[in-house]
Amino acid sequence: MPLTRKAYRAAILHSIADPAEVGIEASYEYFEDGLLVVDNGQISALGHASELLASLPADIEITHYQDALITPGFIDTHIHLPQTGMVGAYGEQLLDWLNTYTFPCESQFADQAHAEEVAGIFIKELLRNGTTTALVFGSVHPQSVNAFFEAAQKLDLRMIAGKVMMDRNAPDYLTDTAESSYLESKALIERWHGKGRLHYAVTPRFAPTSTPEQLTLAGQLLGEYPDLYMQTHISENLQEVEWVKELFPERKGYLDVYDHYQLLGERSVFAHGVHLCDDECARLAQTGSAVAFCPTSNLFLGSGLFNLPMAEKHKLNVGLGTDVGGGTSFSLLQTLNEAYKVMQLQGARLSPFKSLYLATLGGARALRLEERIGTLQPSTDADFLVLDYNATPLLSYRLKQSKSIAETLFVLMTLGDDRTVAQTYAAGNLVHQR
Ligand code: GUN
Ligand code: ZN
Repeated sequence: MPLTRKAYRAAILHSIADPAEVGIEASYEYFEDGLLVVDNGQISALGHASELLASLPADIEITHYQDALITPGFIDTHIHLPQTGMVGAYGEQLLDWLNTYTFPCESQFADQAHAEEVAGIFIKELLRNGTTTALVFGSVHPQSVNAFFEAAQKLDLRMIAGKVMMDRNAPDYLTDTAESSYLESKALIERWHGKGRLHYAVTPRFAPTSTPEQLTLAGQLLGEYPDLYMQTHISENLQEVEWVKELFPERKGYLDVYDHYQLLGERSVFAHGVHLCDDECARLAQTGSAVAFCPTSNLFLGSGLFNLPMAEKHKLNVGLGTDVGGGTSFSLLQTLNEAYKVMQLQGARLSPFKSLYLATLGGARALRLEERIGTLQPSTDADFLVLDYNATPLLSYRLKQSKSIAETLFVLMTLGDDRTVAQTYAAGNLVHQR
């Protein structure tokens, strides 16, 4: 096979460690005039342009981006495909929001053509916002996941998704059964898990909408295949937490329900965790589980403020989630803007380098994919972004005042959104150009 080698020259920044563990300065690499070399969909070199250029053949194709910053692709560790059509639904908190808006919207995915249409819109929106990997909830219908994976496969994206398992406390038109959810999930795993860059996630919606039988079968599935993911929701809303206690009085608490059914582990991602207690954080960390921090959703649905310092204290893996449609933006830049405010309201600080970490390497670690994505290290997948310093007049003017990459990064996260993402590359291919 002929080697397709290309190089990209711009300012380049990536996280290489968690600032909470190594301090801010050791957590990133920045090349003011950098060069990223891509061979056959993988990164083959990264460094200062002045040093790397000498080692490359004179005829190599170099794309030079001026006034721009190359970063790894963003990683969204929690999002719902079938809620694309209901972002920004007015007035309710979690449980009423689900019944009033979410379930009716998700019911439309019984229709294959609808599922395909929305999968196309959804993937385009991810890429427009610079998200190259996402952990995605489908609807209860297998066709929602088939449509998503088919569209992702065409673009050779690294994506993870699963069909919702939900056999109680939801409308009849939207429930499966313990057995049908097991069989349908299994068929999707056989078809998609490990195919190219696609992975499957066993997806019980949350404890209130699954019977003990269904949770048992979800745990069983995880034991049947290697490297499967598990995604669900936990401790998002206080009424929800009380409801789980009523439904599972024999368990110590919300997390213990999932623990009992063997749903914790290194590829398990729990969305929200706003109301987790210290012991639950410790147990999540002990089992290698991860939490998806979803600030726009937590604010929009009035759920509460995620305690990131507590998670850090326990060395718990945390990724960032948009949680569209409870969340209000596909943009991880906008999600970081809100994350900063969530920390401010708790008297804590979110440094721009911790934010970069959460949106890239932290997400990759939460998904156990740090060998493949989340950084620009050689031999990883060439999933990267070009952020445009002149995306809007205000951004352009504001960044001209910037005195450091820390300030530039913070302003990008405060003022930036989909307009800031000029190009998105996945496996070395240009998959979005603004
Ligand atoms: N808990 C159970 N289902 C959902 C959902 O669809 N969105 C959010 N934010 N929380 C949930
Ligand atoms: Zn969610």
